Amino acid sequence: MKLLLTAFKRIHKPAVCTSQRLRLSSRASSSGLSPLRDDALVVGSSRELVRRLGSQVEVRTGFITEEEEGSLLRELEPGLKKKRYEFDHWDDAIHGYRETERARWGAACEEVMNRVRSVAFPEGGPLLGPVHVLDLDKTGYIKPHIDSVKFCGSTIAGLSLLSDSIMRLVKEDATDEWVDLLLPRLSLYILRDQARYNFTHQILKDDESVFNGQKVPRLRRISVICRNLPG
Ligand code: OGA
Ligand code: MN
Repeated sequence: MKLLLTAFKRIHKPAVCTSQRLRLSSRASSSGLSPLRDDALVVGSSRELVRRLGSQVEVRTGFITEEEEGSLLRELEPGLKKKRYEFDHWDDAIHGYRETERARWGAACEEVMNRVRSVAFPEGGPLLGPVHVLDLDKTGYIKPHIDSVKFCGSTIAGLSLLSDSIMRLVKEDATDEWVDLLLPRLSLYILRDQARYNFTHQILKDDESVFNGQKVPRLRRISVICRNLPG
């Protein structure tokens, strides 16, 4: 447990990306190039960028039901409640959070995890054993970072519980290139390849949580994140 949390601390080292971006959104193209993605949930600095990222960025709404969210919460809450939210580590990429990891689930949750694995990862590829669970306080947020390439592979897949939120991707070497993903409660997002390696990702704090001109209230949010191992 200790070792993996140390690993995650390193994953969360903030990335070098700090500059502010133009807030000019353009709607994603609905050209049908990536039919599994809900294009209304992805906007970016240009249509071309959104098109180029294609299936490297996916948001699937209603991936779990409210009942499944309830099952996940029943399994996760007792452990999370024993921890305190951490606010004061200035060098952490995450502010206002508590976290845990889970290797074994009850039947209902295991079914959900298998569904996540089957849509997000190639069959038989090695996954990071434990699933990462991140509980963000209402005032919590995740600063721009890139997950450790040493510990994590090409794909990151996350379920969002309890709150809608906005994930922002910013190209590491060209910060005017960005994409915002609206992550509705009960949705699954998947970041792959370039979207995972060449763009920082962050979860916006409540007072910056505006998607395509529309306020998206950020409440307490729990994410359940599956990753694969480096290849
Ligand atoms: C992380 C991360 C995103 C999320 O823990 O590295 O980026 O959905 N989390 O919570
Ligand atoms: Mn991350």
